[in-house]
Amino acid sequence: MAVAVSLINMKGGVGKTTVASQLAYVAGRKMRVLAVDLDPQSNLSQSVLGPRDYVRHLNDSRPTIVQVFDEYIPSGGAYSSPRPIDIDKVIVTNVGYWDSKVDLIPSRLELSRILKNPTGKERRLAKVLAQVSDRYDLILIDCAPTESILTDAAYFASRYVIVPVKPEFMATIGLPLLARSIQEFTVENEDHSIDIAGLVFNHSSSYSTGPEGRKSIEEVTEQARRQGWHIFEHRVGYSASYARAARMGRPLSGTSHARWWVIDNLERLGYEIFERLGLERSTQ
Ligand SMILES: Nc1ncnc2c1ncn2[C@@H]1O[C@H](COP(=O)(O)OP(=O)(O)OP(=O)(O)O)[C@@H](O)[C@H]1O
Ligand SMILES: [Mg+2]
Repeated sequence: MAVAVSLINMKGGVGKTTVASQLAYVAGRKMRVLAVDLDPQSNLSQSVLGPRDYVRHLNDSRPTIVQVFDEYIPSGGAYSSPRPIDIDKVIVTNVGYWDSKVDLIPSRLELSRILKNPTGKERRLAKVLAQVSDRYDLILIDCAPTESILTDAAYFASRYVIVPVKPEFMATIGLPLLARSIQEFTVENEDHSIDIAGLVFNHSSSYSTGPEGRKSIEEVTEQARRQGWHIFEHRVGYSASYARAARMGRPLSGTSHARWWVIDNLERLGYEIFERLGLERSTQ
């Protein structure tokens, strides 16, 4: 059975998608990985497939996570009727890069339609992922920044949460919201265990290493201590190549200008995370 992990922070732009995609690539060299895009913005789909293939996927009307929540695949033409969802048709296989094998459940903007009529849909993702869980070591679910039925769907589908944090002014804003959200979920769903595996500092702007960044790290560390949350030792370093990697649909190591120490640090973070998730045997 795969270990399923959601990337969540109720604050936007902190690096959830960047960490999800890059972690998927690092894991994909040794493990069987499924990346799940649970955000209508679909940034994970774009950065794993690459923008061109992603647009082709949409233009060809191929299934996405929307069908997971609808539970059916729409008819292909005037004479065919909608069919029940077949998870194998929703997963795009082998979209990694070179020796990194990653499968993907892509998203599209229409996922936001689920938010308008969410009743009874929060367990559908978990149900579908349970069907393929034995095919993977790691399932990574990239979440949208706002709390909704999609957050509940992520909680039901995962065992752990990883929280990317951008060490800047207001970094602490999303953390109390996340703590409350998980607490409420746990009270209402005693049959499902969900734990925070840890916080990851992401220096996603060059000034987050300055005095403001250090102050923010202190504040977040204090908040994590009070909540009993782990903080991963390795951090994601600032690199303009992260945006370039997303644009190219590649891992950081597949871009031409990324500094070796940023790549090295990312890999070390990956192995630190996999060890904490109990996946170290899958990486050998
Ligand atoms: N370590 C980094 N160095 C430089 N740029 C980064 C880094 N991490 C993320 N970025 C950039 O910051 C922006 C936001 O990152 P990302 O999309 O991963 O955040 P997010 O938390 O998924 O956002 P959202 O809440 O909108 O889903 C992107 O343009 C990304 O390329
Ligand atoms: Mg994102």
